[in-house]
Amino acid sequence: MLNLFRSRNHWKKQPKDGVSRGLNHSSQPPRERRVFNRAGVLTESWYPLFRSRGLKKREVRSATLGSQRVAVFRTESGKLAAVDAFCAHMGADLGNGSVCGERLRCYFHRWEYDAGGGLQKVPCLEGKVPNARLNSYPVAEKFGHIWVYAGKEAPGPVPDPAGLPQAEGHLFGETTLFVHHHALMASAIDLQHFASVHALNLDFDYRVEGIGDDRDVWRVRGKIPRRGLRDLAARFLLGDTIEYHATFSGGNIVALEYGAGARLFGRGPELPKLCVLWAATPLENGISRAKIFLAHPRGTGVLGKIGRTLLSLLLLAWLKDDDVKAYPHMRFQVGTTVPGDESVLRLVQAIERQRISTWSYGDSALRNGSLGNSSSGCGKGISSSPEP
Ligand code: FES
Ligand SMILES: [Fe+2]
Repeated sequence: MLNLFRSRNHWKKQPKDGVSRGLNHSSQPPRERRVFNRAGVLTESWYPLFRSRGLKKREVRSATLGSQRVAVFRTESGKLAAVDAFCAHMGADLGNGSVCGERLRCYFHRWEYDAGGGLQKVPCLEGKVPNARLNSYPVAEKFGHIWVYAGKEAPGPVPDPAGLPQAEGHLFGETTLFVHHHALMASAIDLQHFASVHALNLDFDYRVEGIGDDRDVWRVRGKIPRRGLRDLAARFLLGDTIEYHATFSGGNIVALEYGAGARLFGRGPELPKLCVLWAATPLENGISRAKIFLAHPRGTGVLGKIGRTLLSLLLLAWLKDDDVKAYPHMRFQVGTTVPGDESVLRLVQAIERQRISTWSYGDSALRNGSLGNSSSGCGKGISSSPEP
């Protein structure tokens, strides 16, 4: 019993820095793919940077995302803007500057930029200013966070979960993943780990529906067995089947909707759908920070929000164990596979289709400029491994 206790908690003693990514390269060379699980590759997508309330009117902050540092500021009128962080004059970090009216002012020599990155004022010059500007980037607010798009133009807004258009939401928690965030995304549809990690011995089936260039909805359905108290309680509450949907977007966002069409006692009134949205932001060395949002339909009242939060906590307790325990000291890859890994391999293929952002960095292929045109997503110069 004591040994069992120890082994269940041993993961807490493992290194918390992704250090194992560089190990065993000579004896177990990792399988490199174009996008999937590549530490230096950032996909064109929306990334949550910080809480909305952490950036008030007339404030500026800068943050790093991939090889890019961006300054985000809120003007006097409340307009939100994101521009390159380094001043066009001598490269000071504009996150150390200040916001004056509708402009961002550099701390160092007080050059001023508008929300589109255009240089508007150089204090030591009268009249005409140099023809210089900063790149500006799409920025949005959703679920109480400020999101920046890793590219020039966003093809759409921060994605809503497939069944929840115009969703609202709030931060439920944050966690550091000691693997690439694609490991977390794969867990959402890794049908084999439901039995091993979550003790859910369900007979799962799935189908995938594409809903756009970079979005897929996975519908996963399983029969609840009659193997113990937990299963019986679930059957009593939900009937004999359980279904959830996973919507993947941008290579870093997955929305999980539980209880699609679920009815109390299988035939009673419809139960509220729960939606947990994970959005990961890469840190360094192949580790990521994941923010977990609880999403709900627009206009859900305070009681509804509290109810959904409580139900989500119950759901997490019911799932019993946590995937993140596998991650410390792991060098994640999809290597030798068996037929039961088919769903994970399909996800790898889907992630390989993602557009690569020029904000990527980290290996010689990228540094040599062979990344290719980010909008084409062809990743010229990076070998693309066909999946089985
Ligand atoms: S470095 Fe920004 S104004 Fe000089
Ligand atoms: Fe899991």
